[in-house]
Amino acid sequence: MALQKIVIRGGRPLSGRIPIEGAKNAALPLLAAALLTDQTLVLTGLPRLADIASMTALLEQHGVQVAQNGDGGKTLHLSTPEIASTTAPYDLVRKMRASVLVLGPLVARCGTARVSMPGGCAIGTRPIDLHLKGLEAMGAEIHLEDGYVVASAPKGLKGGLVRFPFVSVGATENILMAACLARGETILENAAREPEITDLAHCLIAMGAEIEGVGTERLVVRGRTLLHGATHKVVADRIEAGTYAMAVAATGGRVELVGAKTDLLGVVIDTLARAGVEIEPTAEGMMVTRGPQRLTGVDVMTQPFPGFPTDMQAQMMVLMATAEGAAMITETIFENRFMHVPELARMGADITVHGASALVRGVKRLSGAPVMATDLRASVSLVLAGLAAEGETTVNRVYHLDRGYERLEEKLAACGARIERVSG
Ligand code: UD1
Repeated sequence: MALQKIVIRGGRPLSGRIPIEGAKNAALPLLAAALLTDQTLVLTGLPRLADIASMTALLEQHGVQVAQNGDGGKTLHLSTPEIASTTAPYDLVRKMRASVLVLGPLVARCGTARVSMPGGCAIGTRPIDLHLKGLEAMGAEIHLEDGYVVASAPKGLKGGLVRFPFVSVGATENILMAACLARGETILENAAREPEITDLAHCLIAMGAEIEGVGTERLVVRGRTLLHGATHKVVADRIEAGTYAMAVAATGGRVELVGAKTDLLGVVIDTLARAGVEIEPTAEGMMVTRGPQRLTGVDVMTQPFPGFPTDMQAQMMVLMATAEGAAMITETIFENRFMHVPELARMGADITVHGASALVRGVKRLSGAPVMATDLRASVSLVLAGLAAEGETTVNRVYHLDRGYERLEEKLAACGARIERVSG
C-alpha cells in the first residue's frame, strides 16, 4: 500500500453535519463475543475501520464464519458452529492489542487458548497481567511458551471472585465474557464502567447471559453452558463524537453531530463548556457551537469513566494550545502518552512536560508544519491542530487514523475544511 498523508490548509471554521459511527472500542469486544455461541450473532452499526477488519480476520482464523449484509460491513453475521483453532497467532495479534480479547472467550468455550503476547506499544508498556490473574482466579492455568500465553482449564472455567487492583477496560471485558460460560457465579470488583462495557453486557444479556450490576463497578455473572444468537446495535462512538466536537472548538463554527449521545460525554461537555464551547442535545444528536472568541484554559486530568477519557487528552491539548491562559493536562491512565507534544511544539505550541503532567501555555495561533504521530489519538490531534493553524499542515502515517476514524477527511471536508489525502 502506498504511503499516504493528509494535507490540511487551516484557518476555516466548520459548519454542517457529521454522522457519528458505532464505537470501535465497543465493536472489538462485541466481535469477540461471537466466540461464546454456536449460533449467529448479528452486529449492526459497526464502524468501517482497519481495526474491525483485523479483528474479523482473527476471528475467521478461529473458525468464525463472517457474512456481510451488502452494506459495506456495517452489519456482520457471525457464526461459530465450531472453534477451528484456539491459537491467536503473532502476525494478527501484533497488529492490534485488542486481539487479546479472544483469550477469555476461547478458554471459556474450549478449555484452552494460546494467544501471542501483545508486544510493547507506543503508549507505554501496557501489560496484560490483570487479564491473566482474572482467568487464574477462575481456575485457569497460565504459562508462557515461545512468546505465547497459554491458558488451560481442561474441565472448564469456574466462577470466582476477581478483584481488579486498578481499573482496566480490556481485562474487565475479557473476564466478563469468560464468566458467561464459567460454572457458577463470578464476581468482578473494581470493574471498568466505560459505556463500551455496558454495551457489551447488554449484548451478552441478549445472548442469554445473566449479568447483574451493569454500569457499576461490581458485576455479578452466573455462568451458562453456551450462549445463544442475538442481534445487537453497537453504541455510538463517544470518542469520535468528542473528537469532532473538539475540531469545531479548534476552528470555531457550528456543527451537528448526528447520532452522538450527550449522556456518554458528561465530563467532556462540562470541560468544553468551561473552555467556552457550547454543546446542546438535538433531536438527532448534539450541536456544537463556538463563536469567534478565544477559548479559556482549563485543567484536565484523565480518569477511567465517568472521568475525562485518556482517548481525548491529545485533542484537548490542541485546544489548550491556543487558549487564553495556561492549562495543566495530567495523564493518569497511560505512561508515555505525550508523543504529540513535540509535534505540536513544531507548530508553535508552548508546552512543558513534567512527568505525567503537561503545562500548556496558550499562544495566539499555531502555524502549519509537516508532522507525524505514533498512535491513533495523537494523529487525530494533529489533524485538529492543522485545521486550526495558519498555513499548510501535512500529517504523515495516516494508517493510524484509519484504525479509528471512518472517512475522516470526507466528513471534515463536507463541513468546509480544506483537507485531502494524498499518496507519497
Ligand atoms: C482500552 C481502549 C483504549 C483506551 C483505554 C483506556 C479498547 C480497544 N481500547 O484499552 O482506547 O485508551 O481502554 O480507557 O477498548 N494495564 C495493566 N495490566 C493489564 C491491563 C492494563 O497494567 O492487565 C494498564 C495499562 O497499561 C494502562 C491501564 O492499565 O496503563 C489501563 O489500560 P486498559 O484500561 O486495560 O486499556 P485497554 O483495554 O488496553
